[in-house]
Amino acid sequence: MTTGKFITVEGIEGVGKSTNMRRLIDRLESGGKTVVETREPGGTPTAERIREVVLGHAEEPIPATAELLLMFAARSVLVENVIRPALKAGKWVVSDRFVDASRAYQGGGRGIPADRIEALAAWVLDELEPDATLLLDAPVQTGMARTSSRGEPDRLDGEQAAFYSRVRETYLALADASPDRFHIVDASGTIEEVGTRIDEIAARLLSIGH
Ligand code: TMP
Repeated sequence: MTTGKFITVEGIEGVGKSTNMRRLIDRLESGGKTVVETREPGGTPTAERIREVVLGHAEEPIPATAELLLMFAARSVLVENVIRPALKAGKWVVSDRFVDASRAYQGGGRGIPADRIEALAAWVLDELEPDATLLLDAPVQTGMARTSSRGEPDRLDGEQAAFYSRVRETYLALADASPDRFHIVDASGTIEEVGTRIDEIAARLLSIGH
């Protein structure tokens, strides 16, 4: 039996993830795929509760280690209860963020050593890896300008430009290290320009399967 494909969408805040994810999913569905859309942290009732804990404003500091472990706790629930069953049933899964976000935010942003994150990834994911990852990339100032015009900021939205620069650099380094998996999308263009690139990637994923 053929299993479905697992696609993740990554990028710093304000790069247009939601709009472009919608477009990607529409294209894949038009191509005949059944798509399960999810997000991290979250995507199941329990994982959404963990999301509230880790992204909500806390009355005490949340150590970077706890932040990382909460991300992986939510990930474990999502992987076992949603992602693996969907892939096994032949569905495609598109997730708004996944393990690369832990590498970029808790690794690059917070400075947690990569080997600790990889140990957790090996444990929790047990060989599950995205078949393709779209990295929406734009300069930090572009992203921050877009998020500041949005509603209520979450705990991580309060981070400074230097933090997001490290996150962005880490994402780009990850893409450089795994060019077959990553598709970098220049997200600084117009909605239509970025959308055209999303369409190309969707067509490629549909034709060659990854
Ligand atoms: P978003 O759903 O609006 O993108 O917000 C999710 C936030 O959580 C965003 O600031 C990135 C952060 N995050 C991490 O720091 N590590 C992770 O592993 C994941 C999945 C998200």
